[in-house]
Amino acid sequence: MKIAFFDAKEYDKNSFIKSNSDGKYEIAFYETRLTKDTCRLAEGCDAVCVFVNDDVNREVIDELVKMNIRLIALRCAGYNNVDIEYAYGKIHVVRVPAYSPYAVAEHAMALLLTSIRRIHKAYIRTKDFNFSLNGLTGFDLHGKTVGVVGTGKIGRIFIDICRGFGMNVIAYDKFPAAGSGIEYVPLEELWGRADIISFHCPLTDENRHMVNAETIAQMKKGVVLINTSRGALIDAEALVEGIKARQVGAACLDVYEEESNVFFHDYSGHIVDDDILARLISMPNVIVTSHQAFLTEEALSNIADTTLKNVEEFFENEYSVNEVCYKCPQLKDCKQEHNKKCF
Ligand code: NAI
Repeated sequence: MKIAFFDAKEYDKNSFIKSNSDGKYEIAFYETRLTKDTCRLAEGCDAVCVFVNDDVNREVIDELVKMNIRLIALRCAGYNNVDIEYAYGKIHVVRVPAYSPYAVAEHAMALLLTSIRRIHKAYIRTKDFNFSLNGLTGFDLHGKTVGVVGTGKIGRIFIDICRGFGMNVIAYDKFPAAGSGIEYVPLEELWGRADIISFHCPLTDENRHMVNAETIAQMKKGVVLINTSRGALIDAEALVEGIKARQVGAACLDVYEEESNVFFHDYSGHIVDDDILARLISMPNVIVTSHQAFLTEEALSNIADTTLKNVEEFFENEYSVNEVCYKCPQLKDCKQEHNKKCF
C-alpha cells in the first residue's frame, strides 16, 4: 500500500514513521502541497494524505481519479479544503474527526490568558530586564460571560475550562445539544451579551464571514474574539476596522482566512505581502499563532494512528467510519450511512 503524503513537516514524518513502525505502508513524504501541478507525485500510489492547506479542488480530484487513486486521507478534522460534493462518486475522502480536542480547547484558553494578562508583552519586557508594569493591566475572567459558537467536541471542553475559571457560558450551535445543560441563545443575543467570543464550529458556505462589520457592531465594546476554528469565519478586514475603532478589545487568532499563503512557513527576513495580516500582527492587542492549536504530542500520535487506520479500513472493507460524505448533512448523525458504502 503506497501513500503520497503532501505538505509533510518534520513533526508529521516523525509521528507517521512511528505509527507505521511495522512498515505496512510505503509512505512517500513530499514537502510540497497537493496542487494540480504536484498531483503527478502521487502516480502509482493508492492514496494521498493531505492537510488543511492542500487545496483539493475539482481539477485536483480529476487528476487523482485519472491516476486511479481511490482515497484522499485528510489528517485533520476540517474538510472545507476538499470539494466533497464533486468528490462524491469519484474518490473517497476520510478524515480524523477527533485527535485531541483538549489540545485545541487548551490553546484557545492559552491565547485568551496571554492576551488579557499581557503575557506576550511581559515576556519580552523581562527578557530585556524591563520590570515596569505600566500598560500590563488585565482583567479577571471570573464572572465574565463567554459566548461559545459551536458546542461539539472542542467547544464543550472549552466550556468546561471556562466554567473552571468561574465564567458564565452562553452558546450558539446550529444543532444545539439537548440536555447538555448549556444555555443556548440566538447568535444576535450572543453577540450582545458576551465579553469574550470563541469559535469552535466548522467553516461552511453559510457561516463564512459570520464576523463582519455588521455583527462586530452588535458586539459589546471591548469584546475579545478567539478563533481557533477556521480563518474565514472572520472577515479579517472588518476585524482590523473593528480594532481600530476600539470596538474589538483584542483578537486571538490561530487561524486566518488567507493563511494558506503564509502559515507553516518561515518568512522571517521577508517582506510579507499580505497587508491585512501585517496590520493585525502590528497591533498590540492581537495575538497570532500559525494554526498550531492541534500541535501536541498526543494529537500528532492520534492523527497518525487514525489516518493509517482509516486507510487500512477503507482498503479492507471499502468503507471507513471516518468517511466524509457530502450527502450526510451532519456527520455525527450519519453512522448508519457510514456502516455501508457511501457510494
Ligand atoms: P465537532 O464536529 O465536534 O463540533 C462542531 C460543532 O459545530 C457541532 O456541534 C455542530 O453542530 C456545530 N456547527 C455546525 N455548523 C455550525 C454553524 N453554522 N454555526 C454554529 N455551529 C455549527 O468539531 P470539533 O472537533 O469540535 O472541531 C471544531 C472545529 O475546530 C473544526 O471544524 C475545525 O475547523 C477546528 N479545528 C481547528 C484546529 C486547529 O488546530 N486550530 C484543530 C482541529 C479542529
